[in-house]
Amino acid sequence: MDKYSDKNVVITGGSSGMGLTLAELLVEGGARVVITGRSQAKLDAARERLGENAVTVRADVASLSDLDMLAGRIKSELGSIEALFVNAGISPLTPLESTTEDVYDELFAINVKGAFFTVQKLAPLLSANAGIVLTTSIANVIGMVQAEADAKGLITWDVSVDSTIARAHQHAAGARKKGRSKKSLPAASASSPTITAWDARAVG
Ligand SMILES: NC(=O)c1ccc[n+]([C@@H]2O[C@H](COP(=O)([O-])OP(=O)(O)OC[C@H]3O[C@@H](n4cnc5c(N)ncnc54)[C@H](OP(=O)(O)O)[C@@H]3O)[C@@H](O)[C@H]2O)c1
Repeated sequence: MDKYSDKNVVITGGSSGMGLTLAELLVEGGARVVITGRSQAKLDAARERLGENAVTVRADVASLSDLDMLAGRIKSELGSIEALFVNAGISPLTPLESTTEDVYDELFAINVKGAFFTVQKLAPLLSANAGIVLTTSIANVIGMVQAEADAKGLITWDVSVDSTIARAHQHAAGARKKGRSKKSLPAASASSPTITAWDARAVG
């Protein structure tokens, strides 16, 4: 029997990078997986790679109506969920002095509000021993602004990571009361389209 053959898994932001790699590993192990993202083209390409055990749903985590729609699709496609990966996120390079209100609002709408309401909307679908994993970062710990030789800071993003981790601790306390597990996963530096874009800008 495949390792994950009785598991239903949801991965937000599963159409590229770490989310897509994770989806591949789980599908290979026999899991049924729902992946999400905003770009239909990326979702279609991911579906091609993953095969029939993957369902793609175009949904923006910053939109509560999209999250309601996603919850409905997951209920009809999977029924219940054994694992929820709250992975959708953006990582814009935003120096402190030139961060605009629009950049700030988009970052917090996706990385903080999106993560919070993803958990809120999908929690009713979690099975009794389900786990939730939030992808965060090590940016808030190492201080990315100092890691950038040219002082192109990631201050705004660092703060969004801090906020997400704070929410994760609150969720975890609630989850433990219900016998569920919740982990936040600090991404160190996994190769992905986002990281490739950073590297290109750093040398460019
Ligand atoms: N790779 C690293 O080393 C690293 C380091 C620190 C933190 N992280 C975090 O890890 C997560 C995954 O990163 P990655 O490097 O694998 O990035 P990636 O390749 O850019 O993947 C991000 C995924 O999230 C989706 N997404 C972005 N905004 C979304 C939204 N509003 N609603 C729904 N889906 C959305 C993207 O699809 P669409 O663009 O089509 O929406 C894509 O599927 C992110 O939260 C990132 O901040 C990664």
